[in-house]
Amino acid sequence: MQKFRIITVEDKHLSVSPNLENHERAYRDFDLKGWVRGEVEYFDDGKLNAAYNAVERHAHNENKNKVALYLVDESLNETKLTFFELNQLANRFGNYLKSLGVNHGDRVFFFLPRTAEIFYGFLGTLKIGAIAGTMFSAFGSDAIYDRLENSSAKVLVTTEELKTRLISVRRKLPALEHVITTKRLAKVLAKHSDELHTSHTDVDDPAFMLYTSGTTGKPKGVIHAHKAILQQHLTAKYVLDLKPEDVYWCTADPGWVTGISYQILGTLSNAASTVVYSGRFDPKTWYKIIEKYRVTVWYSAPTAIRMLQAAGDELVRFHNLSSLRHLGSVGEPLNPQPLLWSNRVFKHPFHDTWWQTETGAIMIGNYPCLDIRVGSMGKPFPGIHPAIVDDHGNELPPLTEGNLALKKGFISQMTKIWRRPKKYKSYFIKGWYITGDRAYKDKEGYYWFVGRADDVIKTQGERVGPFEVESAIVSYPACAEAGVIGKPDALRGQIIKAFIALKPGFKPSEKLKLEITEHVKHHLAGHAYPREIEFVDSLPKTRSGKIVRRLLRAKELGLPLGDTSTLEEY
Ligand code: WT7
Repeated sequence: MQKFRIITVEDKHLSVSPNLENHERAYRDFDLKGWVRGEVEYFDDGKLNAAYNAVERHAHNENKNKVALYLVDESLNETKLTFFELNQLANRFGNYLKSLGVNHGDRVFFFLPRTAEIFYGFLGTLKIGAIAGTMFSAFGSDAIYDRLENSSAKVLVTTEELKTRLISVRRKLPALEHVITTKRLAKVLAKHSDELHTSHTDVDDPAFMLYTSGTTGKPKGVIHAHKAILQQHLTAKYVLDLKPEDVYWCTADPGWVTGISYQILGTLSNAASTVVYSGRFDPKTWYKIIEKYRVTVWYSAPTAIRMLQAAGDELVRFHNLSSLRHLGSVGEPLNPQPLLWSNRVFKHPFHDTWWQTETGAIMIGNYPCLDIRVGSMGKPFPGIHPAIVDDHGNELPPLTEGNLALKKGFISQMTKIWRRPKKYKSYFIKGWYITGDRAYKDKEGYYWFVGRADDVIKTQGERVGPFEVESAIVSYPACAEAGVIGKPDALRGQIIKAFIALKPGFKPSEKLKLEITEHVKHHLAGHAYPREIEFVDSLPKTRSGKIVRRLLRAKELGLPLGDTSTLEEY
């Protein structure tokens, strides 16, 4: 480990002094109460509402008329919402939900593109103490069904167009009382008051839930409480370095946790103006957005950065991107090459940050005040205690690869897995939360990502469970069995590769590959389909019949096969 030379870069063009001036001192002296004071507001009775902090308080202070959201579409048409207006819409939405009989703790789901409705809808839901759930707009019928069914969602907000994906599963969702389209919202909201008494939720009351994939089974509903806003606010301030005068652009989608914690909650809470782009990825449009809105802080992901790099330096020079002052990255390993490239062309390096759906907010990161060890995820945020542990939860020394773990009980830790108490418990061992990632720590306390400990795939920064893809594939009539792995890809980090054994009577063909691909896109998700399919006669299995993805991976990558003694004849 670390036989290579460590390259260090610093941000040579810090234009303002960073909110966090000395990481070492802050880490040593951290005290949550002291840090939160003057940053996050509790009600007088000691209760806390995340949406109050994100929007309501700013609707009544000096930020009232400041733009909270610039919502920008593919043609760069914009809709602006000030903190005051956003809060009013959230109030109307909250009142509307109440009129439908939505109570504290009920689940309200959103299946929407990145338009105004998801923002005020999400905030309005939290304001009345209901639980907001979001779903990425590329999801197909099965993915939507799994989430709405498991959560027993009472309300779904969607568009006329996306609603069509619900048709085939609608009758199997008896708990779903209301499906509201944006068209209907536009009509009814005006009838509801823009004044709302915000619920004094308890710090531990659930605020939002997100389904995320593991190796096996259906996606799990990760629950986050209102108190997670503390970590979201503090990390937005001290890792993303947000200041109220910033124009901030987060390229994530609220269907994923980054879009919730750093496009809605933690970032609005810091009163920065946020740009939201609803269109497709396109390098030119992206640069135009930075230029037009004079974006200062930009939070994105490695695949996008690699795609920008592939689009060339010329395009960068063609735009005035001098407003940029701090760049952050999340979701998958940030390779040295795009990092160094960004430092050259944008005059600032992307600062890698590490966290997960389950952690609710940034845990490990690079800070403007700290030199970057290129390729490392950085150092833990004050108050967060990571370690590298073996499979029994024993701490391992520096420069030893092991399981990345976090000391249990940090403020934004998921509070439960919806209706899966045993599953929730399985994340913890000897006082550690086990992240599912493999990593090591160097002698100076920087953390280095090695890979996943399980079969979970990261494609374009998005987390995909192999089991779900396999299930979608074998629901296609021609397919008998499928094994799915993540295959390393220079641009996308990993792509999904499927090995498929066909039922007797079916012959491999390019046409069949296309049909299977379309089937997976339609049922599961537009982003979670296999970009590569290989037809095989049979799949490697354990004697108990479980597909051994490890072996598929080893074969694909030409690695040693390891111990195969427990396997069925293959
Ligand atoms: C998994 C979590 C956190 C927001 C989006 C992802 C991988 C995340 C990094 C990083 C290497 C990373 C890990 C992690 N991951 N950040 N900086 N370097 N890997 O949330 O979808 O729950 O995925 O993404 O494997 O466990 P998520």
